[in-house]
Amino acid sequence: MQARGPLMIEHRLIERMISIIKAALTKIESTQKVDPVFVDTAVDFIRTYADRTHHGKEEDILFRDLGKRDLSAEDQRVMQELIDEHVFGRQTTKALVEANARYRNGDQTALTDITSKLRTITEFYPIHIEKEDKVFFPSCRAYFTDEEDQALLKEFWEFDQKMIHEKYKAVVDGLETE
Ligand SMILES: [Fe+2]
Ligand SMILES: [Fe+2]
Repeated sequence: MQARGPLMIEHRLIERMISIIKAALTKIESTQKVDPVFVDTAVDFIRTYADRTHHGKEEDILFRDLGKRDLSAEDQRVMQELIDEHVFGRQTTKALVEANARYRNGDQTALTDITSKLRTITEFYPIHIEKEDKVFFPSCRAYFTDEEDQALLKEFWEFDQKMIHEKYKAVVDGLETE
C-alpha cells in the first residue's frame, strides 16, 4: 500500500459521516429540533477521527516532510490551502460546540447556528477530500521515492497506534478535573 492509502480509506469513513449529518439536517429542518447528543457524537467524530487522527497524519507527517521538499509553486499553494481548510474546520467545529451548549441551556436561537455549522461541515469536507484525493496526493507522490513513501506509511501506522491511548487519557484527565 502507498502512504496515501490509509488517508484515502479514512476519507471514505468521513464521507459516510457527512451523509449521516446531511440526513440529520433534513430532519432538524422539518422538526425544528435537534438531538444535542447527536451533535456531541458528530463533534467527537470530527475532532478525534477527522481532525486529530486524520488531519494529524496529514499535517504532522505528510505535510511536515513535504515542507522539506522543493515543492512547485502550485503544490505549495494547494498545501497551504489544505492547511487553512483544516483550521477553518476546527473553527467551525468549535462554533458548533458552543451553539450546542447554548441549545442545551434552552436557547432556541442556537438551532440556526447548529444548522448552519453542520451545513458548512457537509459542504466543506467533500471539496477538501476531493482536492486531496484527486489533485494533491497524486501530485505530491512525485516528491518521494518508494522507500520514502513506505517510511511515511510506517509512520502513519505508528501515529494511529497512539490515538486510542491519547483519546482515553484525555477522557480520564477531563473527568478528574470536573
Ligand atoms: Fe486534509
Ligand atoms: Fe484528508
